[in-house]
Amino acid sequence: MAVEKVPDEIAKALVDPACYAEDTPLQTAFTWLRAHRPVAPIEVEGFDPFWAITRYADIVEIGKNPKKFHNGDRQTTLTDQANDGRIREMTGGSPHLIRSLVQMDPPDHPIYRALTMDWFTPGNVRKLEGRIREIARAAVARMRAMDGRCDFVRDVALGYPLHVIMEILGVPEEDEGRMLMLTQELFGVHDDDLKRGDDAGSSMEYAQQIQAVVADFDSYFSAISAGRRANPRDDLATVIANAQINGEPMGGFESLCYYMLVATAGHDTTSSSTAGAIWELAKDPAEFAKVRANPGLIPSLVDEAIRWITPVKHFMRSATIDTEIRGQAIAAGDWMMLCFLSGNRDEDVFDDPFRFRVDRQPNRHMAFGYGAHVCLGQHLAKLEMRIFFEELLPHLTHVELDGEPTRSKASFVNGPKSVPIRFRFQ
Ligand code: HEM
Repeated sequence: MAVEKVPDEIAKALVDPACYAEDTPLQTAFTWLRAHRPVAPIEVEGFDPFWAITRYADIVEIGKNPKKFHNGDRQTTLTDQANDGRIREMTGGSPHLIRSLVQMDPPDHPIYRALTMDWFTPGNVRKLEGRIREIARAAVARMRAMDGRCDFVRDVALGYPLHVIMEILGVPEEDEGRMLMLTQELFGVHDDDLKRGDDAGSSMEYAQQIQAVVADFDSYFSAISAGRRANPRDDLATVIANAQINGEPMGGFESLCYYMLVATAGHDTTSSSTAGAIWELAKDPAEFAKVRANPGLIPSLVDEAIRWITPVKHFMRSATIDTEIRGQAIAAGDWMMLCFLSGNRDEDVFDDPFRFRVDRQPNRHMAFGYGAHVCLGQHLAKLEMRIFFEELLPHLTHVELDGEPTRSKASFVNGPKSVPIRFRFQ
């Protein structure tokens, strides 16, 4: 079979943050790639060449083989050459400004991951159910107070998982706005509404922005960490502050990066998925009626919303040896983009993948990734969303869109930026 050349507009779509805000051109690009070039060489000026991996089965295969495809040697998210260069200058050669689980490989990765693995098990996070339900009720009460109209992202979705994760980390409520801003600056470096400006109001270079955000997180979490060492509590912040690696206290930088990872990975993703569910229910009264009539469908609504939005659009891996994927030769050092959104629309795995169905069964989506780095917080995220909809849906009798929703411009973590709705409570 002849190997098809990847059209330029498809290659460009994959690296263009604005395209991720549009959705349709991106989905069209992925559909073409899955059908014609599932392991596709992407060459766009300004970026190192990489392979776009768009089929579910291939992403699973790579995720399962962390020795062959790992994270340590190259950027773990798509970064252009200029910024890769700047980061390496700042770090003295390393592609990573931070050192969290995401940047680690064996032997360190399983050791650092084991520190909090028990905390994130389904059994342990279920202990938080009572408190999370209170936070969810407060979010629903805020929505009720809005008199039938709101921007669901701004007024409800952003605050809810943020509050949960900040309580878990021991961040006081008055600092939550600052944490939200730092997360949005970290993930929204290409979105004019979200990114950080310098003091004069003009935009900063990507690498500088990240560095400034890291410095802010540092000043914040070093105080929390010192507090938990002096006065341990029964919380995740205490687990991180007192963690030991091979019998020695975890390094200060690694511990900052652990806090940052939990503080940032844990809310934007969950609020995007929650907002995605409301967006689709507002568009489709039949699906809304189905889940309202049968609350037993809420867990499947949650999974479908996470599949639908797939807030983490990709992670990158690099090959450690010469190998192949789907018969395509891959050289040691080659860079790969795992396109989770594409995997979650793979026609070989999902029946009618472009339909949002609250009762989709089975739904083995890969929005949490796959393998050694699979999302640690997945049970917490699903618990938060289930509880929120259990609290909301019995009261919500009607919801419709009240304007055109928008998505953020970002190729790494993105999702709904604004979902204006009209609604009625009973
Ligand atoms: C709907 C919500 C969420 C989605 C879609 C999501 C998605 C992901 C994805 C795709 C990865 C990388 C997987 C890979 O490389 O194979 C990841 C890693 C991670 N996530 Fe989540 N996540 C969500 C919520 C959370 C929450 C609530 C937390 C914790 C508070 C969390 C903590 C983490 C951590 C610590 C990692 C790094 C794991 C590692 O590298 O070993 N996530 N997540």
